[in-house]
Amino acid sequence: MSLAVVILAAGVGSRMKSKKPKVMHALAGRPMISWLIETALQLRPKKIIVVVGPDMKELQAEVKPHATVIQKIRNGTAGALKCALPLLKGHRGDVLVLLGDAPLISKETLQNLIKARGKAGLSVLGAKVYDPSGYGRLIARGNMLVKIVEHKDASGAERKIDIINSGAFCIDGAHLAKWIGRVGNKNAAKEFYITDLPAIAAKDGAATKIAMASCEMEIRGCNTRADLAALENAAQKVLRVRAMENGVSLTDPGSVTFHFDTKLAADVTVEPNVFFGPGVSIGAGSRIRAFSYLEGVKVGANATIGPFARLRPETEIGEGVRIGNFVEVKKSKIGKGAKINHLAYVGDCIMGEQANFSAGAITVNYDGTHKHKTVIGKNTMIGSNVNLVAPVKIEDGAYIAAGSTITDNVPAGALAIAREKSATVKKGWAKKPKR
Ligand code: UD1
Ligand code: MG
Repeated sequence: MSLAVVILAAGVGSRMKSKKPKVMHALAGRPMISWLIETALQLRPKKIIVVVGPDMKELQAEVKPHATVIQKIRNGTAGALKCALPLLKGHRGDVLVLLGDAPLISKETLQNLIKARGKAGLSVLGAKVYDPSGYGRLIARGNMLVKIVEHKDASGAERKIDIINSGAFCIDGAHLAKWIGRVGNKNAAKEFYITDLPAIAAKDGAATKIAMASCEMEIRGCNTRADLAALENAAQKVLRVRAMENGVSLTDPGSVTFHFDTKLAADVTVEPNVFFGPGVSIGAGSRIRAFSYLEGVKVGANATIGPFARLRPETEIGEGVRIGNFVEVKKSKIGKGAKINHLAYVGDCIMGEQANFSAGAITVNYDGTHKHKTVIGKNTMIGSNVNLVAPVKIEDGAYIAAGSTITDNVPAGALAIAREKSATVKKGWAKKPKR
């Protein structure tokens, strides 16, 4: 049967105390709304419609190419769904309604929700939760719903019910407009509640079935910053499990932070306390050692990064490269097998295969106004505490003596020394009387 998905996201999210629309807050670096759209797309719907509030251009851009409708007055979840009706005209299949602020719902759970409706008028996704306060409660008879009571309107006995309304519904598209038209706002908040639909449908003899979510976390709504932190935690768990299922070893999963787009090949090992920012991919067999921070970097196979390495955007690390402790690499391409093992800065650099960049060496890439490039050939040896003042080129096989500040190009196979020839040694100086 054909499926349309409507995501309600027009709420201001006042409890977040933010200028941003609530659903634009990110989990693992990606706005909540996009998590939900990704899951919805797996159901292969005919269309996805997102209901947004006025002045939410950023949100409209985020959900493109999917359609958006603006709910001018935020008068409740049924009011929001009503705004989508013009775009649902003629739709005869299922209408899946999702709340934009409950982003971690799984595809399997949504499939169960759709299946549960079958020939009934609606189905609602319930969940058993530890602390139901704030949520709407499901008053049920078996897997048939009697009605939904919002927390604000619930009696003492009803508030004890721990089966809650997740907010997701599957509704028979043929009757949706008619039922929505009958929703009133006689409740504590004076809003038009989507949760009134089951009772309205029942008057037409249409039943509401209940499907249950597999765990509490997947239906958790985000109303506050504390909820956001809890959801971030849950999103991280999802990403960690995904990585491990793909053959990645995480020695202490809970301490590794992923970005939603982090790509780790099989047999990558990630040690504790590693942070992945946006745009990271790591090749097979590589090891990311503890306390490393990576963003915008592509690491080849069998490389070792860290401990305590910082890899910044627009960086490519070749196969078998070793980046050691307290090394920062930015906007650079490091050739196969090169070594930058300790205390170094490499920025705007192309480094050849098997080069050795020693402790304390840096590329001096910034003149105060512009950034310049350093090109280092293959099989070169850049000694300790060397400054390579860019733009500069060190050709294949050249050696740069420790402590040198290099401002001119160095030809292939040469040794460049740019420092005092040797120390002045004053014998017995230490024993002489001092002033
Ligand atoms: C809602 C449900 C509640 C459920 C809970 C689950 C209703 C009336 N209540 O409560 O039963 O247990 O979610 O998390 O549905 N929205 C609009 N326009 C509006 C109002 C809301 O688009 O006028 C959107 C919001 O952007 C949000 C979603 O609907 O994404 C839910 O709204 P919210 O105010 O968070 O509802 P809850 O109080 O959480
Ligand atoms: Mg909510």
